[in-house]
Amino acid sequence: MREANLAIEKLTHPTDAMRRLIRAFRSELNALNQIDEPPTDHAVKDDAENFFVGQRTVFGASDYASLLGFVVLKEEAGVFWLDWMHVAASARRRGVGSMLFNHAERHARKHGADKLFIYVHPDNTGMLALLAKQGYDALNLIEVTRKTRTKGKTLDVFGHRLRY
Ligand SMILES: CC(C)(COP(=O)(O)OP(=O)(O)OC[C@H]1O[C@@H](n2cnc3c(N)ncnc32)[C@H](O)[C@@H]1OP(=O)(O)O)[C@@H](O)C(=O)NCCC(=O)NCCS
Repeated sequence: MREANLAIEKLTHPTDAMRRLIRAFRSELNALNQIDEPPTDHAVKDDAENFFVGQRTVFGASDYASLLGFVVLKEEAGVFWLDWMHVAASARRRGVGSMLFNHAERHARKHGADKLFIYVHPDNTGMLALLAKQGYDALNLIEVTRKTRTKGKTLDVFGHRLRY
């Protein structure tokens, strides 16, 4: 697929195509968080509606026939958070995620911000690789909790060995 075949446009309301992608996204997120249950219809519906609430902007990437991915930006006091980003599994590694990311960054710049902020799971190697390629390789915050599961992994964060 070439970039010329893709269109990125601002989305203004939830659609079935978006809900299908949200369901897939939630399933992947649950797997990363070791949650076995599939996402409920209610959760998917709520997510789709919440995309259009508050200071959020949604962009979708489509090949004119179907929605291949979307990105949701949330603005808080001049800071732009990449709230959600998802590309359909069948459309990955063809530049759709990068196009959405670049579009989101341009949107933030247009509104006076010089970069995006992103929450990402430490096991999400695909997204971390995409971010690194975009020059996003600095930690901003780390989320800390008490470990409740016995099975866990560790990660080096600037010389500190942490469990997650
Ligand atoms: C992460 C995600 C958005 C990437 O979308 P994509 O369209 O495949 O990304 P791109 O094709 O633009 O990839 C750009 C680069 O990122 C890196 N990358 C992307 N996915 C990767 C993967 N699974 N493994 C390793 N590197 C990856 C590669 O460097 C890639 O360049 P290359 O294909 O030339 O090697 C997609 O895999 C996805 O939707 N994942 C599930 C949802 C998710 O994790 N969202 C982010 C939440 S923070």
